[in-house]
Amino acid sequence: MLAATAGFADLIFSEELKAQIDRVSNLSAADVASDETFWNTIREAYTTSATIINLNNGGVSPAPKVVQDAVDRYNKLTAEGPSYYMWQVLDKGREGLRKKIAALAGADAEEIAINRNTTEALDNIIFGLDFEPGDEVLLTRQDYPNMINAWKQREKRDGIVLKWIDLDLPTNDTKELVKRYTIQITNRTKLVQVNHIINWTGHINPVRAIADAIHAKGPEVMIDGAHTFGHFQFSVPELGGDYYGTSLHKWLSASVGSGMLWIKKEKIHKVWPLMGAPDTQDVNNIRKFENLGTRSFPIEYAIANAIDFHMMIGPQRKEERLRYLKNYWVNQCLGLPKFMLNTHMDPAFSCAIANFSISGLEPADIATKLMQDYGIHCVAINWENIHGVRIAPHVYTSTADLDMLVAAIKKMCA
Ligand SMILES: Cc1ncc(COP(=O)(O)O)c(C=O)c1O
Repeated sequence: MLAATAGFADLIFSEELKAQIDRVSNLSAADVASDETFWNTIREAYTTSATIINLNNGGVSPAPKVVQDAVDRYNKLTAEGPSYYMWQVLDKGREGLRKKIAALAGADAEEIAINRNTTEALDNIIFGLDFEPGDEVLLTRQDYPNMINAWKQREKRDGIVLKWIDLDLPTNDTKELVKRYTIQITNRTKLVQVNHIINWTGHINPVRAIADAIHAKGPEVMIDGAHTFGHFQFSVPELGGDYYGTSLHKWLSASVGSGMLWIKKEKIHKVWPLMGAPDTQDVNNIRKFENLGTRSFPIEYAIANAIDFHMMIGPQRKEERLRYLKNYWVNQCLGLPKFMLNTHMDPAFSCAIANFSISGLEPADIATKLMQDYGIHCVAINWENIHGVRIAPHVYTSTADLDMLVAAIKKMCA
């Protein structure tokens, strides 16, 4: 995401936030990363649980209060006359929202479709491309189950051939990653799926290098960006893919059930939308992917409020803080007996998320103990060759929360 995106003014929601934003405005993002007073004010803008420490923001992130309030407001308005207020009032804001998402993505608004999540975004591509029996698609064993299942369905139904890449994580070896993603490409390979972040460990793939190498051999590139939009800064088109899908209810902190699909303009015409489009809708029109039927417009329109909140924090400040939080707990655990980190600490290869294991303990037992004894909610991972516990703090996470995690890990490692 672009740091200083045209069209975004400084958006302030309270006097206290304004005072804090003013106070840090001349500091570097790196300096602000450890400014607990600033981040405590951001925490206050969320409705954080007073009883559990939520370190599974990778599964889904909470929305700050301004976003929750916007959904409530739009819901109340909608209830006054749903078909009128949804379709004739709220929906008038759709093109403005599209532009706002596009500005954050560094993309053209005509390449952005608004939908409900990554699954829906990428299923449009998986089920919407014309393939012949025998055409090949490459994906990794470490990809997300929904995407794997969708491809397997096409394999069963249409006779396409899935070829599996195996990743050995953690790594920061771009050359090796490029090799794994390209070595099986043949003249029958039509598309390679590349995860921007491998959700199990938080590994950030060097997508541009991988995408360029794939394109050089011919196939298209579909990027699963479920975990990256609003997490750290990049421009979606500059990732070098043809298709990119993301969930806005993860790192952008939009309300649950909001997502986005980006398609390179010249590719839009060749993708059949998952939900049929009217004859009058041009095949080059990105809006053909938005014929979802009746759904929650309040959730959809509150995406704009989540973008305002994200811009108020500042994308650069947010990225620095998220990486700082990961480093904060990991650096206190590295070197502990039995502690193993399953995520690379190279800043280009991880940001907020990291995965750890403790030799002799099952991931599920660690996660259960963290919840039972410390009230820490996180997720145990047992997927293919990845076994560990995923820790995903967010901007509202305090270092005191992470001190509790570190104390718990130290005790389990002792
Ligand atoms: C890599 C990856 N892809 C896709 C998804 C699906 O996201 P959603 O459930 O929002 O559709 C997830 C969810 O965690 C994910 O981690």
